[in-house]
Amino acid sequence: MSKAVRYYSRSGNTKALAAAIANGANVTAVSVDEYGAEINEPVDTLFIGGGLYAYGIDKKLKAFISTLDGNKVKKAAVFSTSWLSRHALDLITKELQARGIEVVEESCYAKNMPGVNELIAAEEFGKRY
Ligand SMILES: Cc1cc2nc3c(=O)[nH]c(=O)nc-3n(C[C@H](O)[C@H](O)[C@H](O)COP(=O)(O)O)c2cc1C
Repeated sequence: MSKAVRYYSRSGNTKALAAAIANGANVTAVSVDEYGAEINEPVDTLFIGGGLYAYGIDKKLKAFISTLDGNKVKKAAVFSTSWLSRHALDLITKELQARGIEVVEESCYAKNMPGVNELIAAEEFGKRY
């Protein structure tokens, strides 16, 4: 089963969660603004996440999702970090669904910098889908 992890992180919290998910998924986490971030080959699961900024997601993450081809991404699994709100999970899910991409019900979330237990849970999340 092929998997990919993409994220956008301003201060490293979501990056840490992405790295743990990628560890579980046995792939490398790639920032959406990194060279080679595009999903050119079909994937079974795209793990995709970002932080919440002023109740929105970063425009780079939004722009990346707009490049996704619904025929190449079989399903997506969403993750996020924030100070308090889980709203980014809904925003990312809506953007993915607008591209015709199925999003699994379970998501992965941590309050700011994930702690050890959250990183272990993220790794399991990366294995599960
Ligand atoms: C400019 C800015 C706006 C933020 N707005 C919110 C917000 O509306 N709600 C919230 O719960 N957290 C908010 N946060 C907290 C971030 O979502 C949180 O620190 C998150 O873990 C950042 O992820 P990152 O380290 O991957 O960039 C904000 C942080 C910044 C810097």
